[in-house]
Amino acid sequence: MPEPASDAPPSVLISEAAIGRRVEELARQISRDYAGAGELVLIGVLRGAFVFLADLSRRLTVPCRVDFVALSSYGHGSSGGAVRLVMDLRLNIAGNHVLVVEDIVDSGHTLAYLVAILQARHPASLKTCVLTRKAGRLETDVALDYVGFDIPDRWVVGYGLDYSDRFRTFPYIGVL
Ligand code: IMP
Ligand code: MG
Repeated sequence: MPEPASDAPPSVLISEAAIGRRVEELARQISRDYAGAGELVLIGVLRGAFVFLADLSRRLTVPCRVDFVALSSYGHGSSGGAVRLVMDLRLNIAGNHVLVVEDIVDSGHTLAYLVAILQARHPASLKTCVLTRKAGRLETDVALDYVGFDIPDRWVVGYGLDYSDRFRTFPYIGVL
């Protein structure tokens, strides 16, 4: 078994309370924007988005369905552009309002790849909601419709985000 990088817990970058407040604000904004539009399909990107999606979805006041995709990027850490769909949706999204829910956007290649795949299925609309965005890192013109936090260019963990599959269940976002 590989040793953990450090035994010290990640130091807090965004507290549990601050995340809670921001998720509430995002949910209110999304609920407002989609009010009267019918059902919304939330698509969570596994695995990192599972915590954010769970919290966000339960605060929405619009009717929702929830589905997931799993993506993997080649190489270590953030993607250099090569992304692969390893688990597809079960729902048919044609004609539906779709909101992609992601934990973090770094270069944007992962999200851009997913948006292109989903767009080809002719949803009625397609928007993106990301909890965190790393400042000055975006290399694509993927549209980020809802952004929770702009964060520094550090490796962050917790609230779904991992380092080698660890720290996902921490309630706050921290840096190692
Ligand atoms: P992008 O394709 O460069 O935007 O990278 C996005 C993906 O890289 C995310 O979905 C995460 O899986 C991963 N990632 C990028 N930065 C971090 C980080 O700081 N912590 C955890 N995962 C990250
Ligand atoms: Mg992710």
